[in-house]
Amino acid sequence: MPDEERPGVPSVMRGVLLPSFGDMGVLRLEEIAIPEPGPRDVLMRVHAASVNPRDWMIRAGTYPFRRTLPSRPFILGSDVAGVVVRTGSKVEGFLPGDEVLAMVPTSYGFGGYAEYVAVPAKALASKPSSVGFAAAAALPLAGLTALQAIRDRGRMRLGHRVVVVGASGGVGHYGVQIAKALGASTVVAVCSQDNASWVQDLGADRIVDYRSQPFPAALEDDEPFDLIFDSIGRHSLSTCRKIMSPRAAYVTTVPTPRILLDAVRTSVWPWGRTARIVLVASRGRDLGQLTSWMESGDLKSVIDHTAPLDGYAELLGHSRSLRTRGKNVFLVAEFHGTRTE
Ligand SMILES: NC(=O)c1ccc[n+]([C@@H]2O[C@H](COP(=O)([O-])OP(=O)(O)OC[C@H]3O[C@@H](n4cnc5c(N)ncnc54)[C@H](OP(=O)(O)O)[C@@H]3O)[C@@H](O)[C@H]2O)c1
Repeated sequence: MPDEERPGVPSVMRGVLLPSFGDMGVLRLEEIAIPEPGPRDVLMRVHAASVNPRDWMIRAGTYPFRRTLPSRPFILGSDVAGVVVRTGSKVEGFLPGDEVLAMVPTSYGFGGYAEYVAVPAKALASKPSSVGFAAAAALPLAGLTALQAIRDRGRMRLGHRVVVVGASGGVGHYGVQIAKALGASTVVAVCSQDNASWVQDLGADRIVDYRSQPFPAALEDDEPFDLIFDSIGRHSLSTCRKIMSPRAAYVTTVPTPRILLDAVRTSVWPWGRTARIVLVASRGRDLGQLTSWMESGDLKSVIDHTAPLDGYAELLGHSRSLRTRGKNVFLVAEFHGTRTE
């Protein structure tokens, strides 16, 4: 569509393009056409976008679900927060000027590390005015994963005792807060001592520093737990069995062969302890639940490193180190010359 028919929206933008799999050098910050939203989509001007480990796995060609990826070249990144600039003809509930956030579904070909992105309206949630764009962009994929793991796959109930492994990472730091918001009686956070104090401030009742107190042995004398949420896939149902109550669930984000086998076995014989894998789904309704907790002060994003869009090598490198505290976020608005907050 020519520029004169899209007031205020230019025809080209800058985005971080993946032309082929490989090391960091394959990525390019390039000028490309701004996507055209379909009838059920909105076009968003991106103010902030966050990094998830799958972004560098996709770049490297090691993402386990490679077959689901769009054809190259495509723009990396799925987590965005920004302002709606256009709406498709069938979109209801969102208008130009609305501040929103979303996890762009894989079927939309990603597109988050860019100045504009097209997103289906059903993936959107409104950004509370009390939450900044950077904190909002940090939330979608990691927050949805933690919510869907704990509430749906783990079937956490009021009063349950929960362990979150990887509690200082993107998924884990939301997991600690979500378990509390859903009414867990006890949340034990497994992370290194360096991260203990801020993870405790998020609401963890106890910290297990896995470097000085091996997990799960450190919890063997405790009352058993109803849910082990292993957000980094370091353990398994068998290794955690001793600390789990008779009908407890072990839920993880990482589908290793051992976990897959446990998940199949315990789904055929589901009367005892179970193993389950979470595969995050982009859902605006769930994102709305998370933003309502942000608005009430029950959930917050912890942000580690930030960079403008041309700092993609730096941010992806931080994520690749596996030492991220919370989330790494692109301040895209500052890159295109406006403020992020
Ligand atoms: N299945 C899905 O749909 C789905 C969705 C989202 C993410 N994932 C996967 O889930 C994993 C975690 O994602 P993320 O975004 O949370 O990653 P992340 O932010 O990169 O996690 C980094 C954190 O992991 C912690 N960590 C590293 N080794 C640890 C250990 N042995 N014990 C406890 N904590 C440890 C680090 O804490 P310390 O520095 O304190 O050790 C760091 O804070 C990734 O593999 C990702 O691909 C899958």
